[in-house]
Parts: sequence; structure tokens; C-alpha cells
Amino acid sequence: MTNQEIQADRIALIELNNPPVNSLGIQLRRHIVELIRAAEDDPQVAAIVIVGKDKAFSAGADVAEFGTPMQFEEPMLRTVIESIDACRKPVVAAISGVALGGGLELALACHARVALASARLGTPEIQLGLIPGSGATQKLPRLMRPERALAMMLSGQPLTAVQLSESGLLDRVVEQDLVDAASTLALDLARQNMTLLRARDRTVNAAAVDQAVADASAKLNRRQLAQPAYLALMDAVKSSALPFAVGMQRERELFLTLMKSSEAAALRYQFRVERESSKLPASMHAAPRAFGHVAVIGAGTMGSGIAIAALESGLQVTMLEQSPDALAQGRARIDQYFAARVKAGKLDAGRADGIFARLATTLDWAALKSVDVVVEAVFEDLAVKQSVFRMVDQHARVGAVLATNTSYLDIDAIASVVSRPHDVVGLHFFSPANVMKLLEVVQGKASAPDVMATGMALGKHLKKIPILCGNAFGFIGNRIYNAYRKQCEFMLEDGAWPEEIDKALADFGFAMGPFAVADLSGLDIAWRMRKANASTRDPRERYVSILDSLCEIGRLGRKAQAGYYTYVDGKQQAVTDEVVRVIIERAGIARGITRAPLQAEVIQRRAMLAMVNEAALLFAEGVAHRAGDIDVVLVNGYGLPAWVGGPIHWARSQTRSSLAHELDQLIESNGFGAVRATPHMLSSLLD
Ligand code: COA
Repeated sequence: MTNQEIQADRIALIELNNPPVNSLGIQLRRHIVELIRAAEDDPQVAAIVIVGKDKAFSAGADVAEFGTPMQFEEPMLRTVIESIDACRKPVVAAISGVALGGGLELALACHARVALASARLGTPEIQLGLIPGSGATQKLPRLMRPERALAMMLSGQPLTAVQLSESGLLDRVVEQDLVDAASTLALDLARQNMTLLRARDRTVNAAAVDQAVADASAKLNRRQLAQPAYLALMDAVKSSALPFAVGMQRERELFLTLMKSSEAAALRYQFRVERESSKLPASMHAAPRAFGHVAVIGAGTMGSGIAIAALESGLQVTMLEQSPDALAQGRARIDQYFAARVKAGKLDAGRADGIFARLATTLDWAALKSVDVVVEAVFEDLAVKQSVFRMVDQHARVGAVLATNTSYLDIDAIASVVSRPHDVVGLHFFSPANVMKLLEVVQGKASAPDVMATGMALGKHLKKIPILCGNAFGFIGNRIYNAYRKQCEFMLEDGAWPEEIDKALADFGFAMGPFAVADLSGLDIAWRMRKANASTRDPRERYVSILDSLCEIGRLGRKAQAGYYTYVDGKQQAVTDEVVRVIIERAGIARGITRAPLQAEVIQRRAMLAMVNEAALLFAEGVAHRAGDIDVVLVNGYGLPAWVGGPIHWARSQTRSSLAHELDQLIESNGFGAVRATPHMLSSLLD
């Protein structure tokens, strides 16, 4: 786990070795304390260097220990740090790879820090609903300008050693020979033979700390204020202006309170399920095929977004369209995107040139012969997609992966028109495709394991969160969102107004309520689909016609300045119009419902229960492989924040008997045709 070598130059080299990322679990913590003590007592040793592995100095606390007794088993990280603090010999951190969270705090305990230029340092705790708990909130403002220290802790994003080279955090940044550089510095410190200055001993500029906290507090947005960790961080950093021991105590109290918060529990869970989700089940273990050259068919918003994501990740891209105009528009969209990045200073011009060199646009199907993966992103219509796939089948090389970006259609129906259905996979990107992290990787009945493996590997390469899905209407996300949206429509008939439902769900945590979302995306798409399905709908089914009535009078959503809400100069009006209220009331009367107001909590519970029920059904059908995948989809694609968690995480926090009872009631009110997940389905999902 750890090694210690005494080098000829009287340096004790402590090598952290806890694969894969040197997380600071109990074993490693124990070893560090023992080795520091041994080195301190060894007269041969003049100074100590702590080094990690190439990939990681240390990624911090072992997340797997959170919430278990091991997290608080001595030596805790604070004790490890105290043992370095108390050490009479200089200790230098030699940092390569990542130094995150507790890993950075370990480095902060050392008397000096040397880093490879490529190393990345940061405090990601805020992303887990926490603040650093072992001194970073007190030490960083002593080493760096307080506003910079605070910005680093607020973002949770790591910075490179090069970015931090002048910050005061690092003593030296080197391109190579890390251990030599750290040893030289350690011996220098030993030779100077004076009282060793640690981060904790430095004075802090109290006025600058206060100013930084005041400025940052004023800028906290709604998202941040909804999470207790942000205000706690302000409190902790403010306390760094107090005597060190007092500030440390405050940091500890805040950390322990946050550790018990529901937000931190949800974020921890999300961390775990997101990492599990990209692993394929054993039956699908196969080496991915090549995906270095991707063709995107369709240069619309979706196609361009996919092309941008592929280009940004270093892939070669060929964009294919039918009409020169559409191709030119798509090309312009991509050019504008990268030009804006350059202008904003987020991309240097040289790199942009490199990106453009990897992009080809064409009207010629023959260009497909050299590509590894084809991603079709044309109009969402089966016949259109099938005709594209027929062309792809004629032109793509043998062994190319043929992907469709459908969001609802049957992958098998698309695959049925090609001579190689085993090469077909669904890659459901979310719009804008270069921003949204979620990618549903859909398995058709013939999809080969290595094709699925390619879909998942390509997703990871694009820095997406790929989720394996079965081929069923709406896959995971749209199917659950549909059940949720439908339930919200029922609640309109039952007595709530759109703004009440939207507010209740936004207060619950959703980025936007369902009716504001519907207005934003336009009501006409759903209207068209409803009309297309009208002939197959059972007349006994509970069908809410409000959306159709709105569309019939031209209220197509935000783009028409009117939908569920009215928009004045693009600004949504707080209360729905009389005309909309009348439509809603009439719909209720037609169903024989006596409208009665719904409490916010009832609205929230009905919306969540509807999702849980649908999740249990689709899990039983095998559409999702792991229950946690469902939450990963909802959180990354449908506006449920990670600190609230998805429906599965929510349902697990409810009493099982009341959940079952409420589900009975819900299904009854959903009317004819509503399917309730069986108790067995529910336990398979939640246990
Ligand atoms: N504790 C325990 N395990 C951790 C961990 C941590 N702090 N950080 C990463 N891991 C594990 C992952 O679960 C994964 O395990 P697996 O291979 O069994 O699935 C493995 O390390 C690799 O992580 P992954 O994220 O897949 O690799 P990566 O190379 O993309 O990223 C890191 C590596 C370290 C940058 C990234 O994992 C990370 O940011 N970790 C979080 C660090 C953190 O939040 N620390 C502060 C805790 S308070």
C-alpha cells in the first residue's frame, strides 16, 4: 500500500500506493502516519518526500467509506495531517496526476509542494454537497489570495499546476524529474535548519477574506443557494480570518453537519451510480470497434451538435446532407460555435484550425466508405430514417457501426432495412448535443456486443454519460418523462393551475416546471404526435385534451408568445390567462371532475410517484439494466438536480408501505388503462 525507501541523499521517500487513485482509505491513512513517525525517528533521514502515482497523488477521501464507520476510524485524515504538522523534519509533497480534496489537504499539510506541470489540483467537495473537512478552507486563504482560494473551492473544478504556478499554492512546478526536484527542495529546507513554516503558521489578510466572502456571497445563484454547502463554505472561509484553531473547529462543525444532509447523500449516491452506469453487463463484454472517424448524417441542430461534440473530443468528422443549403447552414452553425469559443478566449486559434482540419462536409454518400461510425440525425420519422439507412447500407464499409439518433422510434424497425442489423445501435443524444452529458445507448434485438461496446466507448470518449437502454418506446428518459408529464396534465384537470404545478415542482428541485418546459419546446410536436396516435387510442383512457385545445387556438408555446402561459416580450407572465383557465376548467367538467385545489406537496408526490411507477415497469421489462441508471438519466437529461436525486433515490427515502398505498390511489385516479407496478416489481427496483 505504501512504500518507504531511504535514499542515498537521506530522503525518506513515502510512495502512496492505493490503486486506482490513491484514495485515502483507512489502510493508507494508517501507513502514512506510521511511515512519517518512522522517518522522523530515523537518524539517517534528513527530510521526507511524499509521492503518489502518475495518475494520482491522491483523489482524496475514499468515497466508498462515506457514511460507514471506517470514515471516522482513527487515524482520520485530520490526524494524518497533524502527524505531518508535528513532524520536526521537512516534508515535501511531490504531486503528479490529481491532488483532489483530502489529497490536496494532505499536500497542504506538507512544508512545501512541488508539482508536475500536468498535475491537476482542486477541492471537489462542493460537488459532493460538502466543504473540505481537513483544513483546506483555512489554509488555502493563507497561501493564496482569498478570492482565488474561494473561487477554487466554489467551483470544485481542478486547476493545472501551470494555472496555479504563481498562486502561492505551489513552491515549484517542473516538467519532469518530480521526485528529484522535491528531494532537492526538502534537503534545502533541512539545511536551512530553521523553524519550518507551515501553511497554518502563515498570517491571513482578514480584510481581504471578508471582502472575498462578501463578493462571492452576493453572486451565489438560485442553484447554489438551494444547496447548504455553498453558504457553509462562505462561513468556513470567513472563519479563516480567526485564529487557526478556531477556524479549524468551525470547518469541522460545518463539515459534519453537511455530511448528514440529504443533499450530500443524494450527491454521493449520484457519484456512485454515474460511475457504475458506464459499465456493461458481463454478457456484453467485448472490445469496442474503431470510432476515430464519425459521419453525421443531417446538419440540423442535432447533427451539428453531435459533430461539435465529436470534433471537440478529437475525432475526425464527415457531415453529410441532402441539400447544399442545409449543409451550408450546418457548417455555419459549427463555424460560429468555434469562432465564439475563440473570441471568448476558451479555445486558441491554432486549436480551432486543427478542429476545422478534421471536419469535412459533403453531399456525396460515397464519403461514407471510409468512416468507422455513422450517426444518423435526420427528421424523427420512421420512413425517412429507413430511407437514410438503406443508403448507409449501400455505402458504409463492412464493420462500420450504424447508429441512429432516434428518441422514440423502434431501433429494430430501422435495422430491418439494412443487410447488417447486428451493426445497428441507437445513440440518443440530448439537445444541445455538445452540452448535454446524457447519451442513451440503445440495444436492438440484433445489436452485436462489440457494437454496444463501441456505443458506450464512443459516449465516454465524447465525455458523455452513456446509459445502456433496451429498445422500448421512449427508452428510459422519455418514457418516464411522459408518465410525469401526463400526471401533471391530470393534476390540471383535478384542480391545479399550470403555475401552481410548475412552482411546486421547481421548489422540489426541477430546473423548470413541466408546463414552462412544454411552452419552451413548443406544443405542436406533441400535438402532431397525439393526432397521429388518435385512431389507436382507447376512448376509455384518461386523455387530457388541454394541450390540443391550446394548439387549436394557435397557442403553440413560447415561439407563438402564448401556450400554457402568455409571453410579453418573451417574458413569461406569472399567472395563466383567463382563456387558458377556461379551457382547463372545461376539460375538468367534461370528465365530470369537481376541481379542488392541490397542495404543493401533493403535486410533488404525485409527480414523483408517477415516475417511480413507470420506472418499476420499465425495469421489470429490462429496458434499464440497473435501477441507478434511471436516476442517472433523469438527473442528466431532464432537469432534476443531482442534490435532489432521481425518482429511485427519492422512493428509497420513503416508507415502503405508504409508497404502496399512495401508488394504489394514484393508479386509481389515473383511470382506465393505467398500469400499476406490482409490489414485486417495486421491490426489485428499490431493494
Ligand atoms: N474514492 C474512492 N474511489 C474513487 C475516488 C475516491 N475519492 N475517486 C475515484 N475513485 C474510483 C472510481 O470509483 C473508479 O473506480 P472503478 O474503476 O472501480 O469504477 C476509479 O477510481 C477511477 O475513477 P474514474 O472517475 O472512472 O476515472 P477518471 O480517470 O475519469 O477520473 C478522478 C479520476 C480521480 C479525476 C475522478 O474519479 C474524480 O474526480 N474523483 C472524485 C474525487 C473526489 O471527489 N474527491 C474528494 C472526495 S471528498
